[in-house]
Amino acid sequence: MAGKFTSSTQAIPDVGKVPRHIAIIMDGNGRWAKKRFMPRVAGHKRGVEIVRATVKACIARGVDYLTLFAFSSENWRRPVEEVSFLMNLFVSALQNEIGRLHANGVRLKVVGDLSAFEPRLVALIREGEALTANNSRLTLTIAANYGGRWDILQAMNQLALAHPEKVGVFGEADLAPHLVMAYAPEPDLFIRTGGEQRISNFLLWQLAYSELYFTDTLWPDFDDASLDSAIASYRQRERRFGRTSEQLIDNAVSPAPTLVLPAAGHDA
Ligand code: IPE
Ligand code: IPE
Ligand code: MG
Repeated sequence: MAGKFTSSTQAIPDVGKVPRHIAIIMDGNGRWAKKRFMPRVAGHKRGVEIVRATVKACIARGVDYLTLFAFSSENWRRPVEEVSFLMNLFVSALQNEIGRLHANGVRLKVVGDLSAFEPRLVALIREGEALTANNSRLTLTIAANYGGRWDILQAMNQLALAHPEKVGVFGEADLAPHLVMAYAPEPDLFIRTGGEQRISNFLLWQLAYSELYFTDTLWPDFDDASLDSAIASYRQRERRFGRTSEQLIDNAVSPAPTLVLPAAGHDA
């Protein structure tokens, strides 16, 4: 449903107790394996188990959208054996998990430039998406061969092709529906495991006002307690979206959670 959600830079989302959308950079698989004198790929295998547990935990906590960065557009630079292991792991995870995801009411989406993937992987992705399309308990998005810059550029190109007469005067609201995750509200909580404090070309547009949480915990060690710590940190944040604390307190007295702020000057 493109266009259903207004950009969080323009509207104050209803901040509930639980983040509605959590986006995670699952990092640290290689280091986890290295610490155990195991090959890097053992960490990726263990990482899939953590994905399964995290999906379950998010459902139990009432999260609506979970978005996981599985493979970046830059990860092709890794050794060819590791890339091919990751591709095979993606295939087997889809085959093994899709039934369980469907039974649990999970809607699966895969976003990224799929043109680089093998046809059998793309077919599995499309089948999984079709099977689960009408589920509504949790939307699980896997970002694969995804890059935030790629996303903004593909949206820009689509928009320019659709409305050549408006080139030069596009606003945020014109672009947002063409981003690959237009079906989801922007992430409330961003988590990166593995100790690095960077975005690594993940959701560049959509993270504009997300709360950022970085943890040294390696992805294969990220358990329910780790997730709860991240959510607890989120719940202590004050999401001001440019306003002052005092204004937020006034709003709490007479809540206006979906209050639409004046658009930025250039966004006519
Ligand atoms: C994240 O773990 C998984 C992918 C990028 C596919 P890494 O493989 O980056 O693990 P580290 O960062 O080397 O420990
Ligand atoms: C980011 O992790 C991408 C994924 C988790 C899929 P990386 O390990 O590839 O990130 P950098 O290269 O250290 O920034
Ligand atoms: Mg890494």
